Amino acid sequence: GLKKKEVHVLCLGLDNSGKTTIINKLKPSNAQTQDIVPTIGFSIEKFKTSSLSFTVFDMSGQGRYRNLWEHYYKEGQAVIFVIDSSDKLRMVVAKEELDTLLNHPDIKHRRLPILFFANKMDLRDAISSVKVSQLLSLENIKDKPWHICASDALKGEGLQEGVDWLQDQIQ
Ligand code: GTP
Ligand code: MG
Repeated sequence: GLKKKEVHVLCLGLDNSGKTTIINKLKPSNAQTQDIVPTIGFSIEKFKTSSLSFTVFDMSGQGRYRNLWEHYYKEGQAVIFVIDSSDKLRMVVAKEELDTLLNHPDIKHRRLPILFFANKMDLRDAISSVKVSQLLSLENIKDKPWHICASDALKGEGLQEGVDWLQDQIQ
């Protein structure tokens, strides 16, 4: 058959936001792992959609590894940015990391699609995706296509909507 177009995606966001859990759920069920541990450094993962073959750089969100992110910016053709919607205390840290990303010379002037997952929507403490988008000032992103989806990575809810959007942006 036809070879799918290959796309490199960076998966970013604070530690414990659910990046690895999301990427794992996007793989075919026989390729999913059961126990997910905090990522050390980064991990390269692959999954396919109807028309694309994604290679994901699943970066660690821990403070001590965040300086690794920028080394992969040039390679990335899209970003998946994950937020723990129940972690109100660190929402400001997530915003700082997002702003640093958006102002980086390897990102700033590129029309790179950014998909946000307002993850952990199942938790009682979670704030809405609209509220997450306000706290991160997403409306200020004018030079890049972006989209935010509420997700529950444990059940896999909201993930398909996000990936469908990303696929449309990349065609
Ligand atoms: P780092 O690799 O350290 O950057 O973290 P990460 O962003 O990859 O987070 P990870 O996928 O390891 O998930 C962290 C914890 O959150 C795990 O215990 C997951 O089971 C849990 N988790 C992930 N997504 C959800 C969700 O949607 N809801 C709930 N309740 N828990 C989640
Ligand atoms: Mg991880």
